[in-house]
Amino acid sequence: MDNLTTLVIATRNSGKIAEIEDLLKNFPIKIKNLKDFGQIPQIEEDGDTFDENAYKKASFASRVLGFPALADDSGLVVEALSGAPGVLSARYGGEKSTDGDRCEKLLCEMKGKANRKAAFECVISIAVPTGHALTYEGRCEGLIAEKPSGINGFGYDPVFYYPPLNKTFAEMSMEEKSLVSHRGRALCELKSEFSKVMIWISRNMPGLDKFKVIPGCEKTDIEIL
Ligand code: IMP
Repeated sequence: MDNLTTLVIATRNSGKIAEIEDLLKNFPIKIKNLKDFGQIPQIEEDGDTFDENAYKKASFASRVLGFPALADDSGLVVEALSGAPGVLSARYGGEKSTDGDRCEKLLCEMKGKANRKAAFECVISIAVPTGHALTYEGRCEGLIAEKPSGINGFGYDPVFYYPPLNKTFAEMSMEEKSLVSHRGRALCELKSEFSKVMIWISRNMPGLDKFKVIPGCEKTDIEIL
């Protein structure tokens, strides 16, 4: 285990940690998250896009901790609310609001609206301390339910209805959700070129001499974004 590359998941959100850890569990890396480290300055998520915020979180964590870091920035985009809550999904209804408060506020705003179309969007950024990064994106379309349903997951899961499975995200198991979710789709793309990502990390992390090249991938390359 000791000579594996460490990848830090740059979040304290337990729901996100569980989903990302589960999706990366079969890869030859050691996964840590921000809860494994002491006090780390909070990064302000003040970007206008998921892309900007994901990069900010990943590059900051990587620079501060000295490991490659993966950050997810995600949120719910609702058509009838002109894209809200969008990048403000985590703070919808105020900094101190709970997941339950946010779902309630959303249902209130949606009262009487015929157009219930919404999408979860996710951008995943993997950064190294130099600031170089790779980006992966995923999106899942659905509808805002009339009332919350289900107890699994986190955030807006109880009010996000996914028609193809006739369930809200909160009525799905983690495995079911990951097969169709925005985060699952972004991570699926990452997983499909995981060996190349590991090569990219090793080339961009001076001093990461314990990295093990996966046989057959020695010559692959990934452009720095
Ligand atoms: P951030 O990416 O940390 O800014 O937070 C994203 C916010 O969007 C979360 O706190 C949730 O409220 C919401 N969100 C993102 N992904 C999901 C999901 O898979 N299910 C439910 N809510 C989500």
